[in-house]
Amino acid sequence: MLTGGGDCPGLNAVIRAVTRKALGEGYEVFGFRNGWAGVLKGDYFPLTRERVSGILHLGGTILGTSRTNPTDDQLETIIKHVKSMDLFALVAVGGDDTLSVASRLHKRGVPVIGVPKTIDNDIDGTDQTFGFDTAINIAAEALDRLHTTAEAHSRVLVVELMGRQAGWIALEAGIAGGADLVLLPEFPISLAEICKILKQRQAGGKNFSIVAVAEGFKLEGAEVLQTKELDSFGHVRLGGIGETLCREIEKITGIESRAVVLGHIQRGGTPSAYDRVLGTRYGVKAVDLAINGEFGRMVALRGPDVIGIPFDSVITEGVDKKTGKPKLRMRNRFVSKELYEVARVFFG
Ligand code: F6P
Repeated sequence: MLTGGGDCPGLNAVIRAVTRKALGEGYEVFGFRNGWAGVLKGDYFPLTRERVSGILHLGGTILGTSRTNPTDDQLETIIKHVKSMDLFALVAVGGDDTLSVASRLHKRGVPVIGVPKTIDNDIDGTDQTFGFDTAINIAAEALDRLHTTAEAHSRVLVVELMGRQAGWIALEAGIAGGADLVLLPEFPISLAEICKILKQRQAGGKNFSIVAVAEGFKLEGAEVLQTKELDSFGHVRLGGIGETLCREIEKITGIESRAVVLGHIQRGGTPSAYDRVLGTRYGVKAVDLAINGEFGRMVALRGPDVIGIPFDSVITEGVDKKTGKPKLRMRNRFVSKELYEVARVFFG
């Protein structure tokens, strides 16, 4: 088993569940350190009952994680290691990037099972990823707290939340935390319109406003980046939309504004009960799929059920921004217009 990509609360619940279920079925279990980097180096350790004891409530991942993207040659090394270890199954817990590597390995005959993971909750094919529930609870609590200080100082507070392609955290934390404006990558809205809503709210007698903005929101069509450098999967590092928006709002409306970046606090600490349960169900199902020989599948929540779906049903062709070459990527799941309309009722 390995965990790859950005961490999120509930990873240890998955690790514990895979281990306990597989041990119970008579298998030995090994954990690779730091995502695909560990598989590449053959860096692993046994996951025993003792090793996974006491980790259910812990954030992070006892396996460590990385954003290592193996080249085609490195994929061959990985295959060699998997064969030499005589692995019955390789469980890859990760998001878009980690699972796209899992899918490439599956196409080359490696018995892989995927467990979808992303704090952004934007992997297609599953209703929800673990970690998201914890993140929206943390973000909603932050919005609650920010209300009192925003009101005391008659300010606009712009809260930047995670959400690269899809704005699930900003949407749901925004609804739960009573945001007066929710800005998502999926739904463009101009700076003039944003300022108009805030001015109208002020004219209606409200001396403060809370704006929840996803880090991937495009201000007048442009993403705000921390650096243009691409990571090994060809992603830019987003960040700064809160501060940029805050400056523009203050300039245009004249209302004193401040930006708050919640950042990695959203991904840290103890998982909610919901995420522990979802992670546990995913882990148990991953082992079930392996035992049934249903490789090349990802576990997924569909309504009340956890099922296995083929990688091929959620994988699509994209372009590697680094090399310009075609690459396999997972399809994203976006916020629907219907849900956005719910948030919009409370704008202003
Ligand atoms: O992809 C998940 C995510 O949390 C994004 O929302 C965010 O842009 C990114 O990871 C930040 O990750 P890191 O700082 O760990 O590279």
